[in-house]
Amino acid sequence: MKVLVIGGGAREHALCRSLSLDPDVTALHCAPGNAGIAEVAELHAVDALDGAAVADLAAALGAGLVVVGPEAPLVAGVADAVRARGIPAFGPSAEAAQLEGSKAFAKDVMAAANVPTARAYVCTTPAEVDEALDAFGPPYVVKDDGLAAGKGVVVTGDLEEAREHALACGRVVIEEFLDGPEVSLFAVTDGETVVPLQPAQDFKRAYDGDEGPNTGGMGAYSPLPWADPALVDEIVATVCQPTVDELRRRGTPFSGLLYAGLAITSRGVRVIEFNARFGDPETQVVLARLKTPLAGLLKAAATGALAAEPPLRWSDGAAVTVVIASHNYPGTPRTGDPITGLDEVTAEDGPTAYVLHAGTKRDGASGDVLSAGGRVLSVTASGSDLAKARERVYRAVARIGLDGSHHRTDIAAKAATDASGAAGGA
Ligand code: AMP
Ligand code: GLY
Repeated sequence: MKVLVIGGGAREHALCRSLSLDPDVTALHCAPGNAGIAEVAELHAVDALDGAAVADLAAALGAGLVVVGPEAPLVAGVADAVRARGIPAFGPSAEAAQLEGSKAFAKDVMAAANVPTARAYVCTTPAEVDEALDAFGPPYVVKDDGLAAGKGVVVTGDLEEAREHALACGRVVIEEFLDGPEVSLFAVTDGETVVPLQPAQDFKRAYDGDEGPNTGGMGAYSPLPWADPALVDEIVATVCQPTVDELRRRGTPFSGLLYAGLAITSRGVRVIEFNARFGDPETQVVLARLKTPLAGLLKAAATGALAAEPPLRWSDGAAVTVVIASHNYPGTPRTGDPITGLDEVTAEDGPTAYVLHAGTKRDGASGDVLSAGGRVLSVTASGSDLAKARERVYRAVARIGLDGSHHRTDIAAKAATDASGAAGGA
């Protein structure tokens, strides 16, 4: 099978890496890709947001499967454009992707499907904002209604800060604060059958100890030794399946990857958000542990054939990923800095540790790999347990040089040392 992956971050590098290891994949292409993906896939300079161009490319390549990585092309209808050309696409339609594209839409679906989530108000005027903030009290949770790359959410005890963020966004969702550890659960679905992957935990805040602003994600690990073994089944039964059923009932079936971001509160599981695609950086650790060949699974989801798939196979070990971010991320990041140490990681730490590229590009003249985005690299390692995977990942991180960069040093630290404690990473 020839596969085309759309996107160019570390999630797409992880997808491409797994696809490149699948014996059924005879050719692997990616648009636009990045300097790391170029080592496992042929890159094409096609605009990921242009559905017609992506469909043209897929047809020209004879692709048997197109995998759309990021949310923006999904919301723009790129999967629809590919399907309209008769080519199987992994990823929801533009309509179903509204589950991520609009937090208000997601709340409406959850209400209809009886899916547990934070109580919320959708506000458009300053008076509505004040009323909602007053109704919930601190800590305040204020979310931009539209796509904001994980950065449109402010959680704060400061009423003025909450009000300012709300007024700057326009249409906002203001909701009840959910206490408890966070879990990311991915489910592959064809619109009817739901196949959960292993849960992971993401670290959203920029700095150690969950300090600093929210980011797209600074690191992740899987599995979750502190979680109840029944957790995944409970989430499928109370969250994923009812949501998939509700979207099908509405005539806008959701196929692709349903990402449930959850809080495990004292009163039970609550949805924090849905995403319509694989999470980044959680994908890096989930795929590091998936033994089932990826292409067949994604193709089954894209063609309505998931019910016939055998159970997924997983490694018993653990995986940890650490994001190396540019100077000033998540503000306006500095780009164009050379990255060193990539070859040493491959030579000294591979194959149990490896570097997935996020925002990178190769300098045409020097051949150097340069930073080209906020999150630059996702260093990933496997091990028999989290402690071993952590040791390996940080050994590899230490080899990387990127002027002005920062990374968290506490990814999976609590979970590795205290299997019973609900590691707080949020
Ligand atoms: P979101 O973009 O909705 O995933 O929000 C980003 C992050 O903000 C989440 O991962 C949480 O850490 C935090 N957050 C969002 N909603 C809530 C909530 N209702 N209560 C507590 N924290 C939240
Ligand atoms: N890691 C959070 C996300 O992918 O949205």
